[in-house]
Amino acid sequence: MPLKHLIRSAVGRKLFMAATGFILFGFVVAHLLGNLSIYLGPDGINAYARHLHQLEPLLWVFRIGLAGTVALHVLFGIILTLENRSARPVAYKRKKRPGSSLASRTMIYSGLLLAAFIAFHLLHFTFRTIGPPVEILEGHLPNVFRMIVDNFKQDSFSQAGYPLAYAVAMTVLFFHISHGFASLFQTLGINNEKVLPWLGRLSQTIAVLLAAGFVSIPVLIFFDLVIK
Ligand code: HEM
Repeated sequence: MPLKHLIRSAVGRKLFMAATGFILFGFVVAHLLGNLSIYLGPDGINAYARHLHQLEPLLWVFRIGLAGTVALHVLFGIILTLENRSARPVAYKRKKRPGSSLASRTMIYSGLLLAAFIAFHLLHFTFRTIGPPVEILEGHLPNVFRMIVDNFKQDSFSQAGYPLAYAVAMTVLFFHISHGFASLFQTLGINNEKVLPWLGRLSQTIAVLLAAGFVSIPVLIFFDLVIK
C-alpha cells in the first residue's frame, strides 16, 4: 500500500505508531545496555562513549533518524488520541472503560511527559546546558562518567533534584512501555484471548526491567554505591 494511503487509513496510522514505537523501544534497550557500562567504572562508560563518537558521521544520521521517529510517534499519538475521543464521546462520561488499565488510558499523557523528559535530558547530557560544569577530555569528548556522577551524587536529600526527576521520568517510562509493548503486538494481530494475558505480563516484566535498570543509575550514585 502506498505511504499516502497507509497514513490516511486508521489501521495504517496504528501500524505507523507500532513501527515507530518498536524503533524507539529498540533505542531504549540499546541505550540502557550502554548506560549500564557505568558499573564498569570510568574506563567502561568513557570507552563506550568514545566508540560511539568514533562513528561520528553515522551517529548524526542515526540521531536525525531518531529525532524524526520521536516526532512521528508523538504526532500520530496525538492524532490517534483525538480520533478515539471524537469516535467515542461516551468515554467522557464513563471515564473507566471495562478491561482497560491505567497505563492504557494514560498513554497520551505518559507519552507527552516522556517527550518533555527527552527534551530536558538532551539539554542535560547531550548539549550540557544545564547541570554542573563538565570536564572535557582529549578529542572534545566529555568525561561521561564524571558528568553522570556529578549530577546524581549529592550530599543531602534537599539536593536530590536530578536523581528525583530521573526516578519520576523512569516511572512514567514504565507505564508507557507496560502498555505500549503489548499494544504493538495487538496491532500486529495478536489478539487471541489466551495469549493476551501473557502478553500483558511479558510487557509489564520488560517495562519493570527497563525502568529499574535506568533508575538504578541515579539511585546507586546518589547513595554513593558506584565505583569511582
Ligand atoms: C538514568 C537514566 C539515563 C542516563 C544516565 C542517560 C545518559 C545519557 C547520556 C550520558 C547521554 C549523552 C550521550 C553522549 O552524547 O555521549 C544520553 C543521550 C540520550 N538519551 Fe539518555 N540516559 C538515561 C535515560 C534515558 C531514557 C529513559 C531515554 C528515552 C526515553 C533517553 C534518551 C536519550 C536520547 C534520545 C539521547 C541522545 C542520543 C544521542 O545523542 O545520540 N535516555 N543519555
